[in-house]
Amino acid sequence: MGTFTYLKTLIKDRNVASITPSSSFTVKKATRNIDFSRDIVIVEYGPGTGVFSEYLLKKMTAGSRLIMIELNKEFCDILHGIEDERVSVYNESAENIHEILENEGLAEVDYFLSGIPFSFLPEMVKDTILSRSASLLNPEGYFLAYQTSKHLKKPLKRHFKHVKTEFELRNLPPMCIYEANGKKQQV
Ligand SMILES: C[S@@+](CC[C@H](N)C(=O)[O-])C[C@H]1O[C@@H](n2cnc3c(N)ncnc32)[C@H](O)[C@@H]1O
Repeated sequence: MGTFTYLKTLIKDRNVASITPSSSFTVKKATRNIDFSRDIVIVEYGPGTGVFSEYLLKKMTAGSRLIMIELNKEFCDILHGIEDERVSVYNESAENIHEILENEGLAEVDYFLSGIPFSFLPEMVKDTILSRSASLLNPEGYFLAYQTSKHLKKPLKRHFKHVKTEFELRNLPPMCIYEANGKKQQV
């Protein structure tokens, strides 16, 4: 599922925020910290047509889970075509992560992987998604994100002790990859 699907969907839905799926270089760099040798729970925010999902499912153990939360209905229809019992797809906003995890019978997440366009979101919604995600993250886990600029560093630092960024130039447009871990205590 490629550029044509993205362009068609972007015309109707600005939240799609991209003209083409992430490159394989972005997919590999953004997921390089994931320990695929054990059973893990990954929550993917904004999977689009599933470019990361395909890669993740090849690497994940049989006992792992991939929960995909995608706002766009047309993309969800495509994701529903993935035949894999480790996968759940929700046509919802990332803000509803608590209810979704409860529905899955899961208490915490090992890795969040997020491609949602945070720069489009009102400050409060951005903060809600980050704080809810931080509260559900396993202490050894990571919040991983990819965005077209470094704008997410400051908001991430409000919720995580460590935030690393690195650009992947082999992407259209170049992508900033974030690795955040260590939940901060909120006062
Ligand atoms: C830039 S695209 C990334 C798609 C894909 N992961 C990739 O790497 O090519 C952003 C995706 O986030 C979805 N999205 C935007 N806001 C969202 C939200 N609040 N909750 C869940 N998904 C959202 C969009 O519909 C779109 O599929």
